[in-house]
This record gives sequence, C-alpha cells and structure tokens, in this order.
Amino acid sequence: SWTMLNIVEDSVESVRRQVGDGRAICALSGGVDSAVAAAIVQRAIGDRLTCVFVDHGLLRKGEAEQVERDFVAVTGVKLRVVDAADRFIKALDGVSDPEEKRKIIGREFIRVFEDEQRAIMADGPVDFLVQGTLYPDVVESGGGTGTANIKSHHNVGGLPEDLQFKLVEPLRALFKDEVRRAGEELGLPAAMVWRQPFPGPGLGIRIVGEVTRERLDILREADAIAREELSRAGLDRQIWQCPVVLLADVRSVGVQGDGRTYGHPVVLRPVTSEDAMTADWARVPYDVLSRISTRITNEVREVNRVVVDVTSKPPGTIEWE
Ligand code: XMP
Repeated sequence: SWTMLNIVEDSVESVRRQVGDGRAICALSGGVDSAVAAAIVQRAIGDRLTCVFVDHGLLRKGEAEQVERDFVAVTGVKLRVVDAADRFIKALDGVSDPEEKRKIIGREFIRVFEDEQRAIMADGPVDFLVQGTLYPDVVESGGGTGTANIKSHHNVGGLPEDLQFKLVEPLRALFKDEVRRAGEELGLPAAMVWRQPFPGPGLGIRIVGEVTRERLDILREADAIAREELSRAGLDRQIWQCPVVLLADVRSVGVQGDGRTYGHPVVLRPVTSEDAMTADWARVPYDVLSRISTRITNEVREVNRVVVDVTSKPPGTIEWE
C-alpha cells in the first residue's frame, strides 16, 4: 500500500543516515522480524550489511531453505550460513531438563555468532548490530509491568546488547501486523511473512526428553503435516500457533496392519491468543483433527498416537517446555 511503501522508504532513509558508510551485521532467525529488519537495512546499505544465519538444526521443515534460498533471492542480501546442527545436537546430548536445554541452545548460539562476527571483522570494522525490535518490545522493556519470567526466553536472533555495537532497529515504531505488511511490500516469501510465532530454541523444546537427530526428524515430519492441514483448512489466521510436541520417552501399544506397534505419541497444542500472555485451546474442527491424526500415524512410522492438549494458559504455558 502507499503508506506502507512510505514507511519502508522512510525507514531505509533513516538507516542510511544512521549507518553512514559503516558496516553492519544481523542475525537471521527464520522469523519475520529479523527478516524484515535485514531487508530494510540491505536496501539502505547494500553489501555493507552481512547477515548470519545459524542453522541450529532445530528449525521446522523448509525453514532453513526459506532463509538460505528464497530470502536471499528476493533481497540479494549478503549471507553467511553456518550449519551448526552437529554442534547443537552434541551440546544437547543427554539433556532432558527444559531450562538446561534453553541455556545450552542460547549459549551455543552466541558462541557460533561470535565466531562469525570475528570472521566478518577480519574484513574491516563493524560498528552496527541490526535487531528486529518491535514497538511492543520497546514499551514492555521500558514499562516495567513486573511480569514473572516463567521460562528463560532466549530469543535466538535477539542477541544480548553488546556494548561494542550500536544498535540499528528499523522496526522500533511498528506493530507486528505492520511488520508483516512491510515484509509483503519488500516482496519477502509469504511463508516467512505469515509465519506464526516459533520459539528461538525451536524443536529442541518440543521434544519431551533428550534431543536426538532421529527424534528431530520424527517431530519435523509430524509438525509439517499438522501445519499443512491447518493451513489447507484455512485456519492459519484464526490459530495463534500450534506447537506439535513429541513425547519421546513415552511409548504406547498400537496396531497397524497385522502388526503390533509400540510407538510414541505426539501432542497437538493449537491455541488462540492475542499476545501469548494468556491463551485458550483452539476449537479445531474434528474433521481437521482427524485428517492430521490419520496422516501423521500413516506417514510417520514412529508415531502411533496423536493427542490434543485442551489446557488454557494459565495454567498451561503454550509450549510444553
Ligand atoms: P509460553 O510457552 O511461555 O510461550 O506460553 C509464549 C510464547 O512465547 C514463545 N516462546 C518463545 N519465543 N524464544 C522465543 O522467541 C523462546 O525461548 C520462547 N519460548 C516460548 C512461544 O512459542 C509462545 O508464542
């Protein structure tokens, strides 16, 4: 739209003024905020921006490709991809405690990013760090509403404010829906622009139990099916998000064909919400649930049961870990 075009252009102009002929770096997470922020800064300063995408191996099906291929094709952004899946899986080896997992993922992310940062700085100094901070984040951090920190929310793609960098925050005046419209204006892939909230620690906190490569593969397939059926049913905009959770340490007896199975359950956690602070379980039509269940149990060999979480928040959080 005309106004959105103006907002984007103004934002590009002010980044250009702020950065001058300096260089900037930006961590891409696969989410819409960091993608739109990076696209705006790229328009402003071109190759003097370097983006870093740490593929921690905990993303959902197709999400790494969206960043590495589609996002780069549209924006022409200079990107360094780090395939760090082995490193993250190794660091998570033997860990089932949720907070422990979050800490490890956050710590590894910062280490990998700092290595990249050093490599980029070998080509010359970098003064600016791009962040996808939105208006509500600005208000929240200044407002001091005193909300309890129930889980350690480490946002991958949101780095600690490192004092050696000046922050470039082109989305500081925008709400989420405006960021999405800006993303459309910039021609970003629809799957990125309309992606529902997804936690920085990714699928690592959706496997109850230890995180292994095999378990990640199982969950990735089940999640892709649930997402596909929910969007085919046109429920994307009504549902805030639908985590799919693998109960990796639970097995139950089932039957398939002539054989007994002893597989894992997955939990569907569809919720409606305004801001994720509170949520209600979403009343997904039975026929949609039925299709998801049939497909997952047919197509994902290790899963023989699909259950639905009907808990509101509070008392249940949206994620299971
Ligand atoms: P909970 O589970 O606390 O989740 O009800 C509230 C919202 O936050 C998302 N979430 C995260 N987002 N990094 C993020 O960027 C995180 O570590 C993280 N943990 C939870 C969750 O998906 C939901 O939208």
